[in-house]
Amino acid sequence: MTNCHLLAALCVVFYSIAGGSYAIVRLPENVTIPAVIVFGDSIVDAGNNNDLFTVCKCNFPPYGRDFQGGKATGRFSNGKIPSDFLAEELGVKELVPAYLDPTIQMDDLLTGVTFATGCSGYDPVTGAIYGVKTLTDQLNSFREYIEILKAAVGENRTASILSQSMYLVATGTNDFTTTYFLLPDRRQQYNLSSYIDFTASAAAGFFQELYGLGARRVVVLSLPPQGCLPSQRTLAGGILRLCVEEYNEAAMLFNSKLMSVTHSLNNQLPDAKFVYADLYNPLLLLINDPRPTGFEVVNRGCCGSGDVEVAILCNRFDLFTCTDDSVYLFWDSYHPTQRAYKLLVHQLLTKIINDFF
Ligand SMILES: *[C@@H]1O[C@H](CO)[C@@H](O)[C@H](O)[C@H]1NC(C)=O
Ligand SMILES: *[C@@H]1O[C@H](CO)[C@@H](O)[C@H](O)[C@H]1NC(C)=O
Ligand SMILES: *[C@@H]1O[C@H](CO)[C@@H](O)[C@H](O)[C@H]1NC(C)=O
Repeated sequence: MTNCHLLAALCVVFYSIAGGSYAIVRLPENVTIPAVIVFGDSIVDAGNNNDLFTVCKCNFPPYGRDFQGGKATGRFSNGKIPSDFLAEELGVKELVPAYLDPTIQMDDLLTGVTFATGCSGYDPVTGAIYGVKTLTDQLNSFREYIEILKAAVGENRTASILSQSMYLVATGTNDFTTTYFLLPDRRQQYNLSSYIDFTASAAAGFFQELYGLGARRVVVLSLPPQGCLPSQRTLAGGILRLCVEEYNEAAMLFNSKLMSVTHSLNNQLPDAKFVYADLYNPLLLLINDPRPTGFEVVNRGCCGSGDVEVAILCNRFDLFTCTDDSVYLFWDSYHPTQRAYKLLVHQLLTKIINDFF
């Protein structure tokens, strides 16, 4: 099936692969994207926490129940996650494996991996609270990865892989939902406005380090409407479990800072593109008006009661886990379903891809 419509200079082609059809964003003819390289939190973690002693893991059922016939890889969803869909849409490969996956092969490394770990954030304290890898740890793994590539394919090819790859950075939600709003320490040091400045400048520092290591094409994912995550509705949305306006406003304020960070980096570093990708508005639209896309449940996750279950609390002993997750926007109390992720990544990428070339 080929259904091609012009979208500025690009066009979207639907291919049928292995029985399932998916969209591919067509790139300009002289552009190649050898790999997709990913940093961040559980939105894009494919299993880096599996061997860590932490509550932030999910390599057990019902996670992964729609992934290759039911495989819990450590992806925080019922199936694929945004990094997988990004690689697929760019025509790189179908799945982006975890860098720490013990079965990883050289071919996997050459086409990209994810260094992301669930429960981390831009604030180094966030990952430390849960005993997972911070962005500094993720960059150290990336440095190690670069040395492995150099040894395998030489300096020149490594440099071109690093500069032509698409990078995805997706993190920050845990800084607010856990570190700032839930725990007292950061609130004693910062008010909301100064905490937003602090995390945005941590983000800027991270992007600069990434540039220093060779990255030139970087997608920076915004925060979601975090006050509407099922877990936050339960914690702070009152008896009606409404969206928590204060948390959504914090996300909007952080997002506008994050956007200006990308703009000023593009001015300072003209050979690189940092492209801000808005997840906030498309996800909020799905929450407010789910019907056109066939979603029916948007305020609870599929797993368990849907109000609180996430990570180790979402497990095979949850008797009430839904049977039809295709009508659920959220898989657990924190993370969208595969179907929601697929839709969102496609919308987002078609909107921003032109900004790179
Ligand atoms: C790709 O082609 C476009 C238009 O022909 C040109 O402007 C651009 O510089 C080219 N880019 C590269 C990386 O060669
Ligand atoms: C690597 O690139 C440099 C500069 O472009 C070139 O001079 C050199 O011959 C290349 N080395 C190899 C091994 O291809
Ligand atoms: C937040 O903290 C900063 C720096 O400590 C201070 O300048 C600012 O006035 C505070 N803002 C509010 C709303 O309290």
